[in-house]
Amino acid sequence: MKIIRAKDYNDMSRKAANIISAQVILKPDSVLGLATGSSPIGIYEQLIKWYNKGDVDFGACTTFNLDEYRGLTADHDQSYHYFMHKNFFDAINVPAERINLPDGAQLDAERECARYDAAIRAAGGIDLQLLGMGLNGHIGFNEPDEFFSKGTHCVDLTESTIEANKRFFASADDVPRQAYTMGVQTIMLARRIVIVVSGENKADIVRQAFFGPVTPRVPATILQLHTDVSVVADEAALSKCGDLL
Ligand code: F6R
Repeated sequence: MKIIRAKDYNDMSRKAANIISAQVILKPDSVLGLATGSSPIGIYEQLIKWYNKGDVDFGACTTFNLDEYRGLTADHDQSYHYFMHKNFFDAINVPAERINLPDGAQLDAERECARYDAAIRAAGGIDLQLLGMGLNGHIGFNEPDEFFSKGTHCVDLTESTIEANKRFFASADDVPRQAYTMGVQTIMLARRIVIVVSGENKADIVRQAFFGPVTPRVPATILQLHTDVSVVADEAALSKCGDLL
């Protein structure tokens, strides 16, 4: 694993955006795996700036997002479709027909997950997968478990996630109970992985995830076995790894 040290969130975002931009310049028809959440927002902002300057062109790219809530339509303002369009896709030139996310409106989970994995395979696999990491070491919606998941699958959200999401919905009943997510194997099949981590609240999990034993109890530990992973982390996130770097 390459650990790339950044000063702060902005520096982390610029460094990760540089890697993604280089990927697209070297291979204009790259298949990019993308993430939602607060970690990648600065990367998307930076890539939009470079796109507007004419420094990077996404016109031949294909994208696959990690996850989506089951039961939310693409136009719901809490869907990951909505997030990605608002924060990235609407400002760049990836052709709409080459933007892929699991379809939250498709309630037949088996069918939707099989469709998504087949679409990733048909695109030739993911060239570069961008990841964030949860406080418990989750990647995508792959939560701590007794085994590593394989392909795209449907997960039950934990009570704490449902509780935390409640404020974004009209009523508790509207909060999605499940999500579709790429599996750990899907993520590990990406040819290259960039994981971004920022903030002191992630310092403990950064140490466990990238320097601790590989275990499905901390899903991100599996990344230690991948041959091309760049961890772009700011000083706060690396603050408990001083003796290891
Ligand atoms: C997002 C995703 C999640 C987040 C993770 C970190 O598509 O799959 O695994 O990457 O929860 O979230 P933030 O970046 O908000 O700390």
